[in-house]
Amino acid sequence: MSQELPLIRLRGVTKVYGEGVLAFQALKGVDLDIARGDFVAIMGPSGSGKSTAMNTLGCLDRPTTGEYLFQGVHVESLTRDQRALLRRRYFGFVFQGFNLLARTSAQENVELPLLYRGETAHARHTAAARALESVGLKGWEHHTPAELSGGQQQRVAIARAIVTEPAVLLADEPTGNLDTHRSLEIMELIWRLNHERGITVLMVTHEADMAAYARRIVRFVDGVVDSDAPNAHPAGLRIASVEPAPVATAEGS
Ligand SMILES: Nc1ncnc2c1ncn2[C@@H]1O[C@H](COP(=O)(O)OP(=O)(O)O)[C@@H](O)[C@H]1O
Ligand SMILES: [Mg+2]
Repeated sequence: MSQELPLIRLRGVTKVYGEGVLAFQALKGVDLDIARGDFVAIMGPSGSGKSTAMNTLGCLDRPTTGEYLFQGVHVESLTRDQRALLRRRYFGFVFQGFNLLARTSAQENVELPLLYRGETAHARHTAAARALESVGLKGWEHHTPAELSGGQQQRVAIARAIVTEPAVLLADEPTGNLDTHRSLEIMELIWRLNHERGITVLMVTHEADMAAYARRIVRFVDGVVDSDAPNAHPAGLRIASVEPAPVATAEGS
């Protein structure tokens, strides 16, 4: 009974999309253990199964065969509704394209996961304001995505991901749409979430500069884990990510 399980354990996980002659096996037997507090960069060529693995890990999708143990719970045998509950309780997601609701303020975007949880308006306002402040966006609460830079939009998305205080942050190419400086700012923010709050981070990236922030690098090739090693020279904080408050305009916005 006292057998130590990691936070996440995948064993022999396969994923087949489609059926019959159209069937495609995106994962071909993935074994992966992730300890609480780890920061894993997932790398590998396009089409190697990284996003499929992330969707499986985040309980968005189910393995075709194999085991997924999250804190000892067999995720592969949960119903869709049970998986949704697990997802909302333990996981935060950040995507390459930010995936914010347009024409909806930063504040409202960040409140959304709390709305799904049935939190009161007061609790939602307080938690969202705090999350936005923690990503350096105090003063930007009422701006819509179109009024924010790409880096700021990704910060809003990160605030939305952490407002529920998830155990795990899943980020699929979070800097893929950003220039180098904005990318480094996002990486330092993610680094802080891992080092200062203990959030377990799984992040897909193509870029070595971004993977450098991780504690461990897992490389996928053709639907399997090809290599898995500690990051010998992890990057720390290098730039000051200071976000100036917006300049108030006469007509407001
Ligand atoms: N919903 C889907 N239906 C059919 N094939 C898919 C689907 N999603 C991904 N694939 C295929 O599975 C393989 C792995 O995709 P993916 O996990 O997105 O790779 P990566 O993120 O490493 O680029 C690709 O060949 C892709 O075309
Ligand atoms: Mg992908």
